[in-house]
Amino acid sequence: MGKGLYQREGGPIRSFGRIKGRPIREEQAGRLDTLLPSIALDPSAPIDPLALMPSAKEAWLEIGFGGGEHMAAQAGKRPDAVVMGAEPFMNGAASALRHIDQQGLKNVRLLVGDARDLMAALPDASLDRVFIMFPDPWPKARHHKRRLIQAETVAELARLLKPGGKLRFASDWADYVDWTLERLTASPAFAWSAERSEDWSTPPADHITTRYEEKRLGDIAPIWLDFVRV
Ligand SMILES: C[S@@+](CC[C@H](N)C(=O)[O-])C[C@H]1O[C@@H](n2cnc3c(N)ncnc32)[C@H](O)[C@@H]1O
Repeated sequence: MGKGLYQREGGPIRSFGRIKGRPIREEQAGRLDTLLPSIALDPSAPIDPLALMPSAKEAWLEIGFGGGEHMAAQAGKRPDAVVMGAEPFMNGAASALRHIDQQGLKNVRLLVGDARDLMAALPDASLDRVFIMFPDPWPKARHHKRRLIQAETVAELARLLKPGGKLRFASDWADYVDWTLERLTASPAFAWSAERSEDWSTPPADHITTRYEEKRLGDIAPIWLDFVRV
């Protein structure tokens, strides 16, 4: 595959696979035309998350929300938080819009695109929580550069999270868990508070099972890593 097809000119290396899947059903396609424009984020200009929803007390971000079930459920539990989500997979965005519509959520904002573009548009110390749930594992060594967790992403997450802000990463690929732990614990900006194996092998109390998690495609049982921005 030529570089031009796989990598945006001048942009970061592509970290996601397909952006289109099976044809989107009419009802879902309708929401892409009606609901999406009213909650879409435009990363071509700076974004002040709290200005997106005047009643918001916190700003959260989910990177790669897939079908959006986790993002929607988290948003439903915390109507006082504006929950931003980024996902380039169009069918995923359509599914997320269905959850948002059916649950009547008013606090979700979406970018159908690369989360790194959204992050670049956000100001320093503007986020209270970030979720990275079961990111594409890119298990082959020659694809590791496509993993979302890279030194640059860690630096960007450190820039964006407020002191005391929380980052949750989950994966069921042993090597990606090790990879992430290595990079996050190497950063003085993050603290990992886990002490016992239950702390990473048991779903956190506020976790919502994701669609990808249910598929059990990885080589280990799911692991959750909760970090705090120092
Ligand atoms: C393995 S899926 C998991 C989806 C969902 N979090 C779940 O657990 O069901 C990883 C998702 O991350 C998305 N993704 C990968 N790179 C991304 C990026 N740079 N920005 C936003 N989403 C990304 C992919 O399109 C894909 O839908």
